[in-house]
Amino acid sequence: MLKNNIGLFITGTDTGVGKTVITAGLLGALRRRGINAMAIKPIQSGGILRDNQLVSEDAHFYGVVTDLPYTSRELNPICLQAPLAPAVAAEAEGVTISLETMMDHFRRISAEHQLTIVEGAGGLIVPLVGTEETMADLAVGIDLPLVIVARPNLGTINHTCLTVAYAKARGLKVAGIIINMYDHQNAGVAERTNPSLIKTMTGVPILGLVPRVEGLIVEGDNPQAGDLISIIENYVNIDQLLMAIRYVPNHKKGVELN
Ligand SMILES: Nc1ncnc2c1ncn2[C@@H]1O[C@H](COP(=O)(O)OP(=O)(O)O)[C@@H](O)[C@H]1O
Ligand SMILES: [Mg+2]
Repeated sequence: MLKNNIGLFITGTDTGVGKTVITAGLLGALRRRGINAMAIKPIQSGGILRDNQLVSEDAHFYGVVTDLPYTSRELNPICLQAPLAPAVAAEAEGVTISLETMMDHFRRISAEHQLTIVEGAGGLIVPLVGTEETMADLAVGIDLPLVIVARPNLGTINHTCLTVAYAKARGLKVAGIIINMYDHQNAGVAERTNPSLIKTMTGVPILGLVPRVEGLIVEGDNPQAGDLISIIENYVNIDQLLMAIRYVPNHKKGVELN
């Protein structure tokens, strides 16, 4: 297990909840603050062909949102083509997945940065290596606190509390929850009451209620960031997040605070 790393592991209550959007937006906001932050996508399924190369759309999007000195391939060590659970896609494509490959890649990137954001694939119990090793095992191996991205609407209490409960059962720390696609103008009763109920039921802080970003496109040939970084700056409590992950300014690597 890798110890004393500074960063966060972005997981979600589901696939498609906005992990990539939140990862890229946080990365951009942290870099705007002068923090030498980087984001990686250890495993991508549903990779896309760009210039005849299979690449991670998610890692590519990080570079669309903010200037990065890396290509999407350098931020993503394993890319599978089928949009399936990684273990299933790997089996179909004859690819061997190992946690060590992903952890080595994390080790290299994290050694050169003050803070590393790791985007998971799907949620915590997505199979990576057969059915024995899941995304949670990667999170345990990398040993970073989690940020859980969740939906705002009916059903999210159950999904979010289950994710927190499983994280805790696996000994993972949860730094906070970010609710994505939150409609601040037209929130119904469920949307208005969900954040405080989730906070009470999990004991985990809600770090932000991020609205839909006009003009933002992750997928396709012409991805667009819109005003994502400013929206993350306005709607996510980044100071609270940095405290929760024990980020210490001016230290290349983290120091233990107690
Ligand atoms: N805050 C947002 N504003 C606009 N579109 C969003 C937002 N969050 C997610 N989306 C859209 O929802 C889809 C899924 O988001 P994504 O970040 O790729 O999810 P995940 O990484 O969890 O699979 C993408 O098409 C993205 O464009
Ligand atoms: Mg993603």
